[in-house]
Amino acid sequence: MKKFLWAFALVATTSSFTFAESLTGKSVSGSNSEIKKENKIIGGTKAPLGAWPSTVALLSAEKLGRGNYHAQFCSGTIIASKWVLTAAHCVVDSDTGALDEASSIKVLVDTSDLGRGGRRENIRRIIVHPNYYYQSGDADIALLELEYDSGIMTIPVSGDDAPIGLLATVVGWGATDKDAKYFPEDLQEVEVPIVSKSICEDIYGTTEFTQNMICAGYSQGAKDTCKSDSGGPLMGIQYGEYVQVGITSWGVGCAQPGHYGVYTRLSQFDGWINYYTRNSSNRGGGYESWSRFYSGEDSGGSLFFLLFPLSLLLLRRKIKGAV
Ligand code: ARG
Repeated sequence: MKKFLWAFALVATTSSFTFAESLTGKSVSGSNSEIKKENKIIGGTKAPLGAWPSTVALLSAEKLGRGNYHAQFCSGTIIASKWVLTAAHCVVDSDTGALDEASSIKVLVDTSDLGRGGRRENIRRIIVHPNYYYQSGDADIALLELEYDSGIMTIPVSGDDAPIGLLATVVGWGATDKDAKYFPEDLQEVEVPIVSKSICEDIYGTTEFTQNMICAGYSQGAKDTCKSDSGGPLMGIQYGEYVQVGITSWGVGCAQPGHYGVYTRLSQFDGWINYYTRNSSNRGGGYESWSRFYSGEDSGGSLFFLLFPLSLLLLRRKIKGAV
């Protein structure tokens, strides 16, 4: 029994799109009762323990006295052993455009719980993309170089655009309610489909919504990132592995009908990221094909990926039983 559970957990984490999708059903739109039940990230759930090891919390050094929970203000991801990817607006003063001091931020690694565990890592330097402009929010991307190799599992950054309709995952410790009053201790996750460029240009206008952005979410709202989720990852499965395609950047309110969350479009920054991280060890990447888990009606594929690993397990047990 124990073995079965372990195997199940493994399957569940490697293909969690399938499981989340099949467990919550196709009502990704969310019936009212579902929306009331789920109120994390916004409309999400607590992430399984250890599910997103590469996601880290950014802590404000001056607030550390009150603990990680009070000091957390943004997220980031470990994309190479000593490099954290985050949003530029997390490390630049929004009034003056001044860059934060490296010593003013600590990186909390190795825990999804702000209330316990983890290690605080020091930052050696902060690199903001040269095209980032704090008044427009364009090119909202920055790299933090850690003082030491983190030893944390890295997430590959995809060089490709995620296909429209792909059910992507966002995670963070950001607000769980639209008014941004409640913040969780445990990392939250929710799935949001990638939305077409033209839809987001229509909503936000081409000056606001630039070529360096992608958006994701539901026309009816209800599931979205919110305050303090910034800098965290928007991820999809490419060739059976989670890769990062976006960075949580901005939105109009949170989880509002008619508005989508906006994320930094990582395919635009492939070269810039590589320039800094290429000599670092432990980098993932180089995948070509996207998972077939879309938000649309293709449930045949999902069912296959749910049943296939299970049948393998059953087969294995049968063989073992026969020996
Ligand atoms: N700018 C916010 C932050 O600093 C993230 C907002 C994301 N908003 C949204 N509606 N998706 O944490």
